[in-house]
Amino acid sequence: MDFIDLKTQQSRIRDKLTIRFNNILDHGAYIMGPEVMELEKELAEYCSVKYAIYCSSGTDALLIPLMAWDIGPGDAVFTTPFTYVATAEVISLLGATPVFVDVYQSTFNIDCEKLESAIQNTISEGKLIPKAIIPVDLFGVPARYRLIEEIANKYNLKVIEDAAQSFGGSIDNKKVGTFGDIAATSFYPAKPLGCYGDGGAIFTNKKDLAERCKAIRIHGTIDDKYNSEFVGINGRLDSMQAAVLLEKLTIFDEELSLREKISNQYREQLEYSAQYIPNNYNSSHALFSILLESSSHRESIIKKLKANNIPSLIYYKHPIHLMKGFSYLGYKRGDFPISETLSKTILSLPMHPYLSEEDIELILKVLNS
Ligand SMILES: Cc1ncc(COP(=O)(O)O)c(C=O)c1O
Repeated sequence: MDFIDLKTQQSRIRDKLTIRFNNILDHGAYIMGPEVMELEKELAEYCSVKYAIYCSSGTDALLIPLMAWDIGPGDAVFTTPFTYVATAEVISLLGATPVFVDVYQSTFNIDCEKLESAIQNTISEGKLIPKAIIPVDLFGVPARYRLIEEIANKYNLKVIEDAAQSFGGSIDNKKVGTFGDIAATSFYPAKPLGCYGDGGAIFTNKKDLAERCKAIRIHGTIDDKYNSEFVGINGRLDSMQAAVLLEKLTIFDEELSLREKISNQYREQLEYSAQYIPNNYNSSHALFSILLESSSHRESIIKKLKANNIPSLIYYKHPIHLMKGFSYLGYKRGDFPISETLSKTILSLPMHPYLSEEDIELILKVLNS
């Protein structure tokens, strides 16, 4: 059994991929070729957003908007410690300070009451200037944008939706990619919509912001590619990856429904608590995670699953505030109790559209016995 099965998916689109790859070999525009332009159009249409800007990874998709806003030393950017390290890393890379906020026990996403307190504390301490919030749509469940946007307006902060895991999700039928000022997603192969290498995209309805992000993506250039208007990065994408995504997009909605069905089956039949999906929220079901009683209980469950050839993974074993790489921020154990407990007790089960009935039955049987 696979934790994520990319082979079955590939067998569905392989012929079409071969045609597209041959086409690229013929036209020779390997980077930012016509496939990339076609994909930007398709992605914008998919989430009903004015601008979709393809880039080299989900990490760069987060970094570029922060650069567009000139965020840097002395600035505070609020996010959670219970996410993939890239979310906090991009803030640190620019010399700004990640200010962590604990998550809700139910959705594992940023706690809005604690967010407002963290903003107020930062203002009253007077050392950093609050500039932006990066809410993370963990495991595919969108964060609480109605409240987040209210808070952002109240304190005049920018919002970047970290939609690396949630592309395809929605709230009240409004698609992920449309929340906040700008959104960033990842097309890392294991994501619900993934390519065969690194890739990412930025989404926004704001024209000036989109223009600036587009330029930063290619070394800060606008018309003349050998004359930078401002400091940028190499955030380009290659045409092969765009070709993979164009074909995967044709079966994406069907795959999302299959994921939804598996998630419902797990939820209805497992005797463990799982991530809460609020009413009117649609998850992309990137990962399905359960909560166990303790880390030793988790170890015993992992062993039991392994003995039955069932793979499982821990997302995330180390909350970012306790990682050595982020010790310079001065946080300590106990600062974010929910994130810390989740890190000790969470476990992700196989989740992909092609998980068979037999596999699901085995997983349910082993876990419930
Ligand atoms: C929440 C989150 N943010 C950012 C990223 C970074 O994306 P990438 O690996 O494409 O750079 C990821 C990737 O796993 C992620 O899960």
